[in-house]
Amino acid sequence: MRHLLSIDDLSLDQVHVLLDTAKELAHVTSGPNKKLPTLRGKTIVNLFFEDSTRTRLSFEAAAKKLSADVINFTAKGSSVSKGESLKDTAQTIEALGADLMVVRHHASGAPRILANSGWIQSQIVNAGDGTAGHPSQALLDAFTIAKRAHSGSYDFNGLNVAIVGDILHSRVARSNVSLLTKMGASVTLVAPATLMPLGAESWGARISYSLDEVISDSDVVMMLRVQSERMKNSFFPSEREYARDYGLGTSRLPQMKPEAIIMHPGPMNRGLEISGAAADSAASVVLDQVRNGVHMRMSILYTLLGGSLASVSTQSGEGGAK
Ligand code: CP
Repeated sequence: MRHLLSIDDLSLDQVHVLLDTAKELAHVTSGPNKKLPTLRGKTIVNLFFEDSTRTRLSFEAAAKKLSADVINFTAKGSSVSKGESLKDTAQTIEALGADLMVVRHHASGAPRILANSGWIQSQIVNAGDGTAGHPSQALLDAFTIAKRAHSGSYDFNGLNVAIVGDILHSRVARSNVSLLTKMGASVTLVAPATLMPLGAESWGARISYSLDEVISDSDVVMMLRVQSERMKNSFFPSEREYARDYGLGTSRLPQMKPEAIIMHPGPMNRGLEISGAAADSAASVVLDQVRNGVHMRMSILYTLLGGSLASVSTQSGEGGAK
């Protein structure tokens, strides 16, 4: 695997290797060896043309835990504002020294263009492109679900996942449907008709327009952010009505299965798609997602840059997998 551009490019075996490697790296770095020497001498560039807190910082933390050098580029404050192109920006960054670029871009397909154009030789990780995909988010979500809601198993047959909210603008929803159905889960997309993309029926998920009809059967309730910054028109009558019909508020919590978990990729609009009570409840794994994100991103960087699952423990100086 040279690049990570889309979940659709991954076989189930490759998914399992990434999950197993994340698990092993989490174990190894929880001990006295919090940092591994494995990517010493490699340079990883975070190339971010859109805002981010979790993804950029967790890729940075992951790279540093593997002893790589990290260069952070954000379009704001850069020469992109003077009209510099994607090609010139990427070639300039590579000339500064880069082995792998973690790319977030508002245009769907931008990471794949960088990977396939021949402009640069760096390996590419898609950190979210337009509404197309966010593969590292889906992988960390699957890792979180396996740990918390599915007894560690990667066979998600029998698991019901509801993905709720602004499906139309969500790259997280697209990558998660692709990954969770690949792993055997039954996924239902829940949204008002205005926020359900045309053709969503073909993604391999069920479609519902009623959260109340779906919530009591769900093992995982994944709430999505209402992406107001991508909305030029009104997609629902008022925030109050959206919260009433599609929000995970206090009144809906009792409808959930006792062992069901609440997920949100962040950042959250508290009071809109999720109430503070739900976000802070014992069922919420929102901060677990953030913590697991560092381990999954370590796994992605490690695997792409040539590390194997078998060599994780030897890198740490430990004897073997636990
Ligand atoms: N989940 C996610 O992509 O969050 P950030 O935009 O903060 O990176």
